[in-house]
Amino acid sequence: MSSYVTRKTPGDTKWFTASRFGMFIHWGLYALPARHEWIKNRECITEEKYQKYFEHFEPDLYDARAWAKAAKAAGMKYAVLTTKHHEGFCLFDSKFTDYKATNTPIGRDLVKEYVEAFRAEGLKVGFYYSLIDWHHPHFTIDMIHPRRNDPDAFEQNQDRDMKIYAQYMRDQVTELLTNYGKIDILWFDFSYPHHQVEPGKEWMRGKGKEDWEAEKLIATARALQPDIIIDNRTEIEQDLWTPEQYQMTEWVKHKETGELVTWEACQTFSGSWGYHRDESTWKSPEMLIRMLVNTVSLGGNLLMNVGPTARGEFDDRAKNALAVYERWMHFNSRSIYNCTMAEPELLETLPPDCRYTQSQDGKRLYIHLFAYPFKHLQIKGLAGKVEYAQFLHDGSEILMDEGKVKHFSEGAAKADDLLVLNLPPVKPDMIVPVIELFLK
Ligand code: GLC
Repeated sequence: MSSYVTRKTPGDTKWFTASRFGMFIHWGLYALPARHEWIKNRECITEEKYQKYFEHFEPDLYDARAWAKAAKAAGMKYAVLTTKHHEGFCLFDSKFTDYKATNTPIGRDLVKEYVEAFRAEGLKVGFYYSLIDWHHPHFTIDMIHPRRNDPDAFEQNQDRDMKIYAQYMRDQVTELLTNYGKIDILWFDFSYPHHQVEPGKEWMRGKGKEDWEAEKLIATARALQPDIIIDNRTEIEQDLWTPEQYQMTEWVKHKETGELVTWEACQTFSGSWGYHRDESTWKSPEMLIRMLVNTVSLGGNLLMNVGPTARGEFDDRAKNALAVYERWMHFNSRSIYNCTMAEPELLETLPPDCRYTQSQDGKRLYIHLFAYPFKHLQIKGLAGKVEYAQFLHDGSEILMDEGKVKHFSEGAAKADDLLVLNLPPVKPDMIVPVIELFLK
């Protein structure tokens, strides 16, 4: 058994840490302008001007089953969909707003279809819900609000009451956790109490747990679905820590206690969460696979994002990226599911350019080759510990030697604790080849 123990939290994280890989889906009206999901903020777009996207929202090609199949094929075990993003538009049929998909030309509850389709594929279902809302009339104007530069922004705020908005969130979370069956993850986003404000504009301060009435909001969610996994972006710690667009170099720890926590890195295929037509920093296949491996090697999950188009499909670039995971996971998912960071004494033996993961039962160690060595993978410290070695993708034996590299050359390595894996000279056709070691 893995000896790593994480901080105890209220939700059920067991299935989550076994799953390791999920799909984030950012979808909303911003898919139409197709230039980032923060466009309303970035371009300070008024309600009146943003309305055209609402009026033209008709994702006629949306087929939630196709999304679910694509996620499953890529090896993802769960998904998190933006039921509402910062723009305030709801993909679900809420009684508490008219600003919802059912009132657009598509006229359907898109969240319902998502839930049913993903569940039918055996995937766990998560909801992202934005704490920020740039449409709600009671969400006060602050330094990231699209109305922040209006000369009368201060005056506009006098009629706004965050208490009414906090109640609105509780009402919507109640709907989301009542009308769609069991929901596995609730992903709130995000708090920003310490964002800088210009001098003299203190009233534009950022928002945090008091503004959201986060305690009540979380209590509302827990009362409805006690096992649900909740992230910590309300500013109140719950089950999940969520480093964003960042590659960790160690297991995420609790700030005060230093305990290890359950964590999930979220990443995008390109530089935007929402569909961005002209953005071109798409990650290479190598980088995609490495991110997944690197995350699991540090005891985390990876939530990889897709931004569907305004027609309701994953575009070809996203499909290609998913295909990279599909092929790799087909052969190598055993080093990902039910795996975690290798035990400390094994980690000490980690050869250069490699990442280890270890099965949670402790019996197998997986070596991921980020760079392919010439003929011999030399691992100091593993001699005597390995019963059998094979490539994971084809189950072909890898011959082992102990104590020295069997090679005529002057300088060939020798050491009592040396394990030598004899590799073929040509790298297998895998972006990251994986070697599976059966430990004694
Ligand atoms: C952010 C952004 C956002 C995205 C999220 C995902 O904080 O505001 O657009 O939804 O991160 O983690």
